[in-house]
Amino acid sequence: MAESQKKSFNVKEIREQFPSLRQQVYGKNLIYFDNGATSQKPQVVLDTLNHFYAKENANIHRGVHYLSQMATSAYEDARKTIQLYLNANKSEEIIFTKGTTDAINLVANSFGELLDKGDEILISAMEHHSNIVPWQMLCERKGCILKIIPINQKGEIIQEEYDNLLSNKTKLVSITHISNTLGTINPVKSMTTRAHAVGARVLVDGAQSIQHKKIDVVDINCDWFVFSGHKVFGPTGIGVLYGKEEILDKMPPYQGGGDMIAKVTFEKTTYNELPFKFEAGTPHIAGAIGLGKAFEFLNTLDMEAILQYEMELEAYAQDMLLTFEGLEVIGTAKKKTSVVSFAMDKIHPFDIGTLLDKQGIAVRTGHHCTQPLMDFYKIPGTTRASFAFYNTKEEIDIFISAVEKSISMLS
Ligand code: ALA
Repeated sequence: MAESQKKSFNVKEIREQFPSLRQQVYGKNLIYFDNGATSQKPQVVLDTLNHFYAKENANIHRGVHYLSQMATSAYEDARKTIQLYLNANKSEEIIFTKGTTDAINLVANSFGELLDKGDEILISAMEHHSNIVPWQMLCERKGCILKIIPINQKGEIIQEEYDNLLSNKTKLVSITHISNTLGTINPVKSMTTRAHAVGARVLVDGAQSIQHKKIDVVDINCDWFVFSGHKVFGPTGIGVLYGKEEILDKMPPYQGGGDMIAKVTFEKTTYNELPFKFEAGTPHIAGAIGLGKAFEFLNTLDMEAILQYEMELEAYAQDMLLTFEGLEVIGTAKKKTSVVSFAMDKIHPFDIGTLLDKQGIAVRTGHHCTQPLMDFYKIPGTTRASFAFYNTKEEIDIFISAVEKSISMLS
């Protein structure tokens, strides 16, 4: 490997590549701790989007002309880059979607057609609404049964309860890899093996793991892995559904339209092969190309070192927050990363979030699209700081002082 291609991890150098981090809000240096909601974008991704629209803009898979061929090969190269990054066996197993939610809806609607009344679907108690509602809709449509794998107070899936729920009626398990609210890292590989033992398929929601951890879909052996581009330093409006070819082949198309067909007549339409069968209409071409560039960027970084670094950031923030009287950290799993959520007696998260914002610190407040999880903890919401590899301990020190100041103003 050439010297310049060696993987590295240097926070200062990384930060220099993210122009949005070099700005002030309300006269203070921006501290961006809302990476669970969306990540900032490196210069290479911004340049790629600009270059595409300035020089290569055309529709794909349709034109004989020069620009269309350029756009098509950039789009298909991005698919290949993502396939290799995920260690998927074939680029046909990478379907571009609008994002995680779109990908889960695709599986719920398409694979869902293959399910019958009484079939069981398991999800965990810590899922995001996007990994709850599509399954509830499927259950209403097909008469399937949704079962919830319980969690403990620390915010860990109770593995014995999971084993008790698995049976030959279980047809699908859909679990988050890392919880957006708690930061818990779930043991998805072992959970997949156990689901497969009863003949169930497994979807892993990687929306909160792809940006923190190297992903190997063959090693996890899940049937589907889904994520959003904007959380992994790419553009909004683009995401990925990885699926094993064998199952994607069996699944009927989700949406009908251009590109997903082989032949259309008024009597009968036949469908295109993978991956196009699931990509109806003009896709987010620039988004896919920008996402491919985000993965090329990640390919230059040492993801093992990043995981370690982000776990240290999270533990550092959590330990300091725990010293505040009346503050409860929500989610204290043994294996967690990048997210620290907290609740306070008598102080609403929105008020803390607003005061932090005025001090230049971006966090998210509320239920984080995990209302059943808030009900479990009997709280209306949390204040959540979520980190990325460009954050630093110095920023956490400023955040902790700002939390202290906010609490004293609100008490
Ligand atoms: N799911 C995103 C979050 O957790 C939006 O903030």
